[in-house]
Amino acid sequence: MIAAKNQTHPAKMDNVFAQKVTEVKHYTDRLFKFRMTRPENFRFRSGEFVMIGLPDADKPVFRAYSIASPFWDEELEFFSIKVPGGPLTEHLQKIRPGDTVLMRKKATGTLVLDALIPGRRLFLLATGTGIAPFASLIRDPEIYEKFAQIILIQTTRNIAELGYGKELLENLRHDPLIGEFADKLCFYPMTTREKSPHMGRITEAMLSGRFFADTGLAPIDKENDRMMICGSQAMLKDCAAMARHFGLEEGANNAPASFVVEKAFVD
Ligand code: A2P
Repeated sequence: MIAAKNQTHPAKMDNVFAQKVTEVKHYTDRLFKFRMTRPENFRFRSGEFVMIGLPDADKPVFRAYSIASPFWDEELEFFSIKVPGGPLTEHLQKIRPGDTVLMRKKATGTLVLDALIPGRRLFLLATGTGIAPFASLIRDPEIYEKFAQIILIQTTRNIAELGYGKELLENLRHDPLIGEFADKLCFYPMTTREKSPHMGRITEAMLSGRFFADTGLAPIDKENDRMMICGSQAMLKDCAAMARHFGLEEGANNAPASFVVEKAFVD
């Protein structure tokens, strides 16, 4: 998901939607979410990403953003990092309700249920804004039809950065469409740089067995367990190596297997 730059003025682009921001919420000085109107004819599968940009510049910069809302939502939700001096996020972090955001028309991605073969447990591994595609997937009833248990693990630097995930889980419990599945979902928030109940990187916690001892969950069983991974490039590399160590095989849309990897990474 390498970010691309568009060299054409938005007025001349017919592959772009211009949408209105409906809500912005800042969680920390590094993280914020925004919601915007959804074009009527825009379809996507939960877990996919789109290219997002702003209209003001002569040559708008587009960056890949995982859609955090589920396919059935009337609006689109995104969870973003703010990078000081970042070509897009420096400006995007200042948006307010009523502002316009550009979105390319095609959604794509590998963090989709179609890219996994059937299994019993699904592990969703995220760091930072990597939780965004999983925010979409855990609000899609299909995930609970396909898997008996969903284990969402998010690692962030500090407790405040877990705010979006905690809010998501709380709202999910009360959601009329998916609330009934909440007991199939296990959320395991971790921090690495601030003291919290679960500390350390997910790779160390799983490989050492500490995670399984702590949660009482059975160790990874390659026949029944599936994994989706989303975070920074270094995290993706290390988690993919861990998944292979557990005997899982990487899948894709056209060749489903037992784990999939993607980055929701902007600069
Ligand atoms: P750490 O604090 O040890 O760097 P970031 O905000 O920089 O994207 O990091 C989000 C979280 O991901 C942090 O808790 C960070 O831990 C963790 N992290 C960074 N790199 C890796 C990696 N290669 N494998 C697992 N976790 C990682």
